Amino acid sequence: MTEWLYGEYGYYSNYKEIGKKGDFYTSVSASKFFGGTIAKHIIKLIDEGFLEKNTTICEIGAHKGYLLADIVQFIYTLKPELLETLSFTIVERFDFLQIEQTQYFQESFGGVVKLSHVNSLKELNLYSAFFIANEIFDAFSCELIYQDKIGTYEEGKIVFNEENSWVKEKAKKYHKDKGEITLGYEEFALEMAGAAKTFEFMTYDYGEMQARPDFSIRVYK
Ligand SMILES: C[S@@+](CC[C@H](N)C(=O)[O-])C[C@H]1O[C@@H](n2cnc3c(N)ncnc32)[C@H](O)[C@@H]1O
Repeated sequence: MTEWLYGEYGYYSNYKEIGKKGDFYTSVSASKFFGGTIAKHIIKLIDEGFLEKNTTICEIGAHKGYLLADIVQFIYTLKPELLETLSFTIVERFDFLQIEQTQYFQESFGGVVKLSHVNSLKELNLYSAFFIANEIFDAFSCELIYQDKIGTYEEGKIVFNEENSWVKEKAKKYHKDKGEITLGYEEFALEMAGAAKTFEFMTYDYGEMQARPDFSIRVYK
């Protein structure tokens, strides 16, 4: 599944378009106000003193960069002086998307707002950060399980005959005997914990449609 999503010919390694011919629409494409509400929230966190004025706003898996650009746009509208102190960065695995995101920032802000990139959270070592990720948790690969055996595809059908101690342990811990066990969440959380001292992480998978995050966590150090 990892190969299918992120390998050379993988879905995310090559996807470009949103809409009928491409990937599903997310709230990012539907309205700039999604980014607007997040910008308002970030300003509140800074005003309350939880985040510093020189916080790094970091989007993870940003596709064309529309959401982060909307956040910048609304910070400019609501509290423009913050643009002098904030930094903007994107965690993006794919070079072709890093190029598109840089171009979009250039077209939108004419070089006034700087955007930096990293390939992975492991490269960041920040003091104060706001992490935002839209629709990425459902883009992690997973194992399909049935009674703690892993499913593999054989001669046109899925058979459950492989064992793996890590999958078995997780299945037991979360009381699952069928369905999916997602890979990579723990590593992602640990990488984020090492990426910044004080941060808030907010993520949406389905909740964006209901205007509430599926998950948000504050970490103080
Ligand atoms: C469904 S797309 C969502 C894109 C965009 N956030 C949006 O809302 O339109 C999921 C994206 O997350 C990226 N992704 C998944 N896991 C990631 C990780 N650990 N680090 C960085 N990007 C990741 C994928 O490469 C893909 O571009």
